[in-house]
Amino acid sequence: MSEECKCAEVREEIPEEQWAKIDEIIKNNKNKPGVLIPILEQVQQVTGFLPAKVQRRIAEGLNIPPSLVYGVVTFYSFFTMVPIGRHLIKVCLGTACYVKRSDEILEKIKQQLNVDVGGMTEDSRYSLEGVRCVGACGLAPVVIVDNDTYGAVEPVKVMEIIDKYE
Ligand code: FES
Repeated sequence: MSEECKCAEVREEIPEEQWAKIDEIIKNNKNKPGVLIPILEQVQQVTGFLPAKVQRRIAEGLNIPPSLVYGVVTFYSFFTMVPIGRHLIKVCLGTACYVKRSDEILEKIKQQLNVDVGGMTEDSRYSLEGVRCVGACGLAPVVIVDNDTYGAVEPVKVMEIIDKYE
C-alpha cells in the first residue's frame, strides 16, 4: 500500500462535473508544446487545488510521469495541493515581526478559528499560513489577508481585522 499522504483527498472530493472539465482541459491542450503549467493553472481554477489524484489524472492524460507533475506543482508557490479557504491569512514570522510578538498573533488566530498553520477552517472561510519576511518590516508585526496588508497589529485586535472577511 502506498505511503503517500491522502489528507487532502480524504477531506475534499472532486465532483464529477469537475472531473469532466479536467478531462476537457487536458484534451484541448494535449498536443500543444509546454502545456503542463497552463493545464495546471486551468485545472486549479476549476478545482481550487491540485491533490495527488488530480495530478495523476493529468499525468495519465499527457502520458508523462506523475513525478513530473508533482515536481512542477511543488516548485511553484501559486499551485497548492490542499484546499484554500475563501480568505488567506498570512502572519509574518520574520525576525522584525517575531520580536514584536507575531507568534502571539498566530496563536490567537489558531485558537479563535480552530485552525492549524497550513490548514483551512471547517467552513472553508479562512486558510492560515505563517510566512517569512514579506518586506514590510517597518510595519511590524504584519498580517496579510488576501491582498490587504495590516501593520502594527496587536494580538488582542487581530480578530477584529479577520472578522471583516466573510
Ligand atoms: S519581518 Fe515581517 S515584514 Fe519583515
